[in-house]
This record gives sequence, C-alpha cells and structure tokens, in this order.
Amino acid sequence: MNWESEQEEKIRRLEELIASYLPKEEGYQRTASEAMNYSILAGGKRLRPLMMYETYQMYAKDGDAARLGDRLIAPFLAAIEMIHTYSLVHDDLPAMDNDEYRRGRKTTHVVYGEAMAILAGDGLLTHAFYTAARAFAAVDDAECKIDRTQADILRGRIGRAVGILAEKAGIDGMLGGQCVDVEAEKRGDTVTMEQLLFIHEKKTAALIQSALMIGAVLAGAPQEDIDRLEQAGRHVGVAFQIRDDILDVEGSLEELGKQTGSDAKNEKATYVTLVGMEQAKRDVERISEAALAELAGLSVTNDFLAELVRRMVYRTN
Ligand code: IPE
Ligand code: IPE
Ligand code: MG
Ligand code: MG
Ligand code: MG
Repeated sequence: MNWESEQEEKIRRLEELIASYLPKEEGYQRTASEAMNYSILAGGKRLRPLMMYETYQMYAKDGDAARLGDRLIAPFLAAIEMIHTYSLVHDDLPAMDNDEYRRGRKTTHVVYGEAMAILAGDGLLTHAFYTAARAFAAVDDAECKIDRTQADILRGRIGRAVGILAEKAGIDGMLGGQCVDVEAEKRGDTVTMEQLLFIHEKKTAALIQSALMIGAVLAGAPQEDIDRLEQAGRHVGVAFQIRDDILDVEGSLEELGKQTGSDAKNEKATYVTLVGMEQAKRDVERISEAALAELAGLSVTNDFLAELVRRMVYRTN
C-alpha cells in the first residue's frame, strides 16, 4: 500500500471511531448535541488522533496495552479531536477571529447562533473528558484477561494521560496561547519573536504534544521517549502553525475549507508579519527538520509518522 492510501485508510477508521463516541441527537437538549456533531463531523485532517495512534502503535507492540488493542486508546483518540474541534468552534466566534467558514462549511455560530456555538464548544470540551474516562471501563472489562497488578498499571497510565490532555488544553497550553494571541491583535510590530513563539507553542503545539505523548504513555513507552516526543511535538506544532500563517496568505478557501485573509482582517501578529514570507517558509523546513531529528532519536522508529511530519511542510490544507 502506498503512503496516501495507508493514510486514507487510517483516517477512515479514526472517523468511524470518533463518530461512535459522539452524543446522541435527542432530548430537549438536542440542538446543542446537533451543534457539537455538526462541527466534528464536518471533516478535518484528524492529525492529532492520527499522531496519537501512531505513537501508541510504536510502543504497544507487545504486553498488556497491546492485548487491549484499540479499546485503551480509542477514547483518547476521540477526546483529542473533540478538544481540538471545540477550540476551532470558539476560535471562529465573533468575539475571537469572527470567521464564516470552517472545514468547508459555514461555521457553527453562523448556522446555530452564537449562544449555541458557545455551548457546543463547552459541550465538546466536557464530552472529551467524559469520553477519555471511558478508558477505565475498557480496563475493567478486560480484567479477566490481564492480572490485577497489570490492570492497575494501565489505570495509572490512563490517569496520567488525562492529566496531560487537561494540561496541554488548558491555561498552560492551548487556552493560554489563545489568550496571548487575542491580546497581541492590533499591536503591530511591538509583538516580539519570543511572544509569537509563545503563542504558537501554546495555542497549537501544546495539543500536538499531548497527542504524541498520550499515545506513548498509554502504551508504556520509556520516560526518555515521552520527553523526546514532547520536544518533537513542540517543533511539529510550531512548524504547523507557521504553515497555517502562510496558508492564511497564500492558500485557498477550496483547499483549506476556511477563508484566507483572516489574520490580516484581525490585524494578527503572525510568523509571516514578523519575518516575511520567504523566511517563514525556510523556518517551517528548519523546524520540521528539528522535529524529525527528535523522532529519529526515539528507541523505536515509525516511518509513517516521519513521513507525515515531512509532508506537513508543504501542506496546502
Ligand atoms: C486548525 O487546525 C487550527 C490550527 C491549530 C492551525 P487544523 O489545520 O488541524 O484543522 P482541521 O482539524 O484539519 O480542520
Ligand atoms: C488557532 O489559530 C489555533 C487554535 C487553538 C484554534 P488560528 O486562529 O490561526 O487557526 P485558524 O486559522 O482559524 O484555523
Ligand atoms: Mg485564532
Ligand atoms: Mg482562527
Ligand atoms: Mg490561522
């Protein structure tokens, strides 16, 4: 199988799995569950669950995590996509970036109104942790197949993974980055490279770090590798956000599924406004190389993951 068809197949499976954890559209509260599902089922590259799955696969080759198969990781694959989607729904709100298109569709607030979009984001965030906690039940169900000590080790890993997800999504992660991003609007050249890198590391790299780390933690990877994946995730995330800044200038609505020129409209400080287009492109390459070097230093290798990172340098969506 070539790389593209392998990726397509992996994403198809991830989409099925994500869909299986979404709320039912029923009851008096159905408008909010419809709004939650509207955005998450609109598509998207599913990069974060894909990366999480890849690191899980790298380390879960044998042992108890492997015996549980996808049941241990599946709730976290869905959870990270819920958190990411919540961040997009809120990022697009009139009070934030005020954008009209996302993943090739009208944004959630355009379709359901602002109040419902706020609730849909809150709903996805909360549902993410509800979903992640379901990994404990997967261990309970499998307890007849693994001994009690092993089951407790797996529960410990799940607890740690939940902590990583919360930390990287919250005030010291994505949310913290969004705070500084909003405050840096309309500040022109007074925004420094240090501040911009803080924004990119937090608003975008933090969740990517959590994706790589959680897969490894659940599979029982050595601590050195988890630390290295955190470094790799920082580089991958910063390069990914610089490319996003580039595409906001050079991309197209057709390919991106979101309108370009959003950053200029909001007078955002971006990597492109700070160092210019040519330097930004060189830096995406340089930082991606640093990510690949970290991946190459792990105790196990994953060619698919490395290729994914390599391709992100030139991505057009
Ligand atoms: C968009 O993320 C927001 C950024 C962090 C740049 P993605 O580009 O991964 O969006 P989807 O999930 O594919 O829609
Ligand atoms: C957003 O960065 C990162 C998030 C945490 C959502 P952007 O505001 O540049 O993302 P897009 O371009 O709207 O996807
Ligand atoms: Mg934004
Ligand atoms: Mg935005
Ligand atoms: Mg952007």
